Amino acid sequence: MLKIALTGADGLVGSRILELLNKDFVLIPIPQTQMDITDKASVDSILKSTDFDIFLHLAAYTNVAQAELNKDLVFKINIEGTRNIYKAVKQKNKKLIYISTDFIFDGKNPPYYEDSTPNPIGAYAISKYEGEKIVKDNGMIVRIAYPYRASFEPKKDFFRTFKSYLEQKKPLTMITDSLMTPTFIDDIAIGLKYLFNNYSPEIFHLVGSKSYSPFETAILIAEKFNLDKSLIGKTTYEEYIKNKPGLPKLSDIKTRKNNFYKMKNFENFLVSY
Ligand SMILES: NC(=O)c1ccc[n+]([C@@H]2O[C@H](COP(=O)([O-])OP(=O)(O)OC[C@H]3O[C@@H](n4cnc5c(N)ncnc54)[C@H](OP(=O)(O)O)[C@@H]3O)[C@@H](O)[C@H]2O)c1
Repeated sequence: MLKIALTGADGLVGSRILELLNKDFVLIPIPQTQMDITDKASVDSILKSTDFDIFLHLAAYTNVAQAELNKDLVFKINIEGTRNIYKAVKQKNKKLIYISTDFIFDGKNPPYYEDSTPNPIGAYAISKYEGEKIVKDNGMIVRIAYPYRASFEPKKDFFRTFKSYLEQKKPLTMITDSLMTPTFIDDIAIGLKYLFNNYSPEIFHLVGSKSYSPFETAILIAEKFNLDKSLIGKTTYEEYIKNKPGLPKLSDIKTRKNNFYKMKNFENFLVSY
């Protein structure tokens, strides 16, 4: 059985990968408590003594809005941390998969495919793209977008955040003129299962099959769970980014290379919820 070591296994995406793929692979989570990826000596020594075939690097500083206020830390974790992992994995001559994001595109000229040109616009996006540059051609890059899942207490994704606001009868102000591409984390895990077994050092997009405005997703959630749609107000992208910079406007991300697993769209997920 293939042995996959991974960082970020306590996070939103990684913890679901552990749950779903633990019968198909020997999964070896390396938590931050055991290895801080910014500590090169620790990364070198732990990876040296860990037996794995593929290293899945999920760990990152992921709070996009806060990233603008914590640039040094973001760059340290997402760039230096990725460089440490990359070097230690290559030292062992093993395979590396780096999880990246749709945010590396500026959202001005969609749609974005695997070979579209990145142009990151905020600190988080810049750091993730710098991570890609370290790995490119010598590792696999898998870009995901707006990952969500049915349940996970430690961190709310967009789906459970919007749902919980509406359930608490709190108003939501949603952008009507931007696009996001929600991706069901279970689909990411199943897509990764294929990529573990068919590794090659290329870029892949593992993303949901349809893009929506945030306003549309909130309405879909309200309709599905019989919640009050009148709580959902409207705003524009220009207004929104005044308070929360770093969000690409039209994050319509697509794939030409995922011909191995059909990813759900957000409506498919809600129907089967
Ligand atoms: N969430 C999104 O919207 C989104 C969208 C596109 C791409 N991505 C990418 O997908 C990947 C996973 O995201 P996620 O949402 O699952 O992240 P998450 O829930 O924020 O989890 C991040 C993980 O990274 C670990 N970590 C942070 N700093 C670390 C350090 N210095 N050393 C070791 N581990 C560290 C955290 O450990 P602790 O649990 O100990 O804090 C946690 O396990 C990331 O690479 C992210 O850039 C996420």
